[in-house]
Amino acid sequence: RRRGGTRGTTAALAAAVTALALLAGGCTGGVDGTPGAAGLRDPYFPRLGNGGYDVRHYALDLAYDPATGRLDGTAEITARATQDLSAFNLDLAGLTVDRTTVDGAPAAFHRAGDELTLRPREELREGTEFTATVTYSGVPEPVTDPDGSEEGWLRTADGAVAVGQPAGSMSWFPGNHHPSDKAAYDITLTVPSGLRALSNGVMTSEKRAADGRTTTVWHAAEPMASYLATVMLGRYETGTATALGSVPVVTAVEPSAAADSAGLRAELPGILAEQVERFGPYPFSAAGAVVTADDTLAYALETQTRPVFPAAAFDRATLVHELAHQWFGNSVTPATWRDLWLSEGFATYAEWLDAEESEDVPVGTSFARAFAEEDNWAFPPAAPPTAANLFDPPVYQRGAMVLHKLRETVGDEAFEKILRGWPAKYRHANASTDDFTAYAESVAGTGLDELWDVWLRGDEKPEHP
Ligand code: ARG
Ligand code: ZN
Repeated sequence: RRRGGTRGTTAALAAAVTALALLAGGCTGGVDGTPGAAGLRDPYFPRLGNGGYDVRHYALDLAYDPATGRLDGTAEITARATQDLSAFNLDLAGLTVDRTTVDGAPAAFHRAGDELTLRPREELREGTEFTATVTYSGVPEPVTDPDGSEEGWLRTADGAVAVGQPAGSMSWFPGNHHPSDKAAYDITLTVPSGLRALSNGVMTSEKRAADGRTTTVWHAAEPMASYLATVMLGRYETGTATALGSVPVVTAVEPSAAADSAGLRAELPGILAEQVERFGPYPFSAAGAVVTADDTLAYALETQTRPVFPAAAFDRATLVHELAHQWFGNSVTPATWRDLWLSEGFATYAEWLDAEESEDVPVGTSFARAFAEEDNWAFPPAAPPTAANLFDPPVYQRGAMVLHKLRETVGDEAFEKILRGWPAKYRHANASTDDFTAYAESVAGTGLDELWDVWLRGDEKPEHP
């Protein structure tokens, strides 16, 4: 199924013309090979992600000029073809693509909306590993989420912060931007030397060049969904510590929030230690927190190994929540956006567990409060009516209520097994709602249909808590 023919400009042009013809015709296969799908048919974001390949590694090399807002990037994407591929897509919003290659050879590319199509000179065979590079530049524009929030590359007074849940990461690098395709990352950041640059994982090098810029390299070894990739560029004060005996903790805070946040930042290793007791081994080789003072960021996010907080949201409950996401959401990642309650329900339940320990508020009281709140009953947690409702209260609070009812049904001992066993079984993988109900039933040793029917799937608020 390899394409024959001569190499060079004529062949590249012919390939480009064929790619355009395929796209224009909406062709899904046939005489000229098989392009990968333009989306993974997520129930809420059908065009997010792409079919036909599985990314192993992203190497992003990014230079940012905060004065102009211009980003210059190269993304090197190493992936395995999961089908024969005559062409494949990457998600990318805005920016200008300058050049693309596949396995070192120039590849024809085409853009339509948020889809970037690359057509290698030769069809990629199922099962082979390939490397695609995209060289791009421009001033990144945030992506507006269906709920009206803005994410992606957010420009701040001094620099930028990038947050991607659910679809923002396509605003700053091309990729397979669906949570089901997790990969390792190396992110290289070049910024004016007065600024600090942080990202996920551990910093493996820092070099100051003669041109007044500093380049840092960040290595995120464990698989990461692209919505959890981040950069923070700005006038941060950074600090390092160790948690759990050997896990490096990198914290960063903008100066105006430094004093107020110092006490809680110091508690991070202790909170992680408590969570390891409850949820089992910490899944990552780095930890930390970043506190921004700029009002650009509207909410905290569990960006992998380095959650980010607006200063106003940096409180104990939110820190507990975002750290719990490292197990629930980041290591065990929702299979689709429909399964987000598995992240938010567990992270909310982690807050309830912590409030019992640190504030003497029994979990039963947190449950009763959530039960009484009418907003929490707008829809079942795994069934937001539209993408605009993905982060609504039922996903969080009703999600946590499902877990509490599970605990009441199976008993404390089995529930503790689930709290540790679930993140162990799906460590660094993806899991769906059905995976969860099946797993809970396997630990319980019995079917739990009644529980799911009422608490997880029921449209109505139950009469009794
Ligand atoms: N997952 C974040 C949390 O920790 C919230 C993200 C909200 N995102 C949004 N697009 N509204 O709860
Ligand atoms: Zn959350």
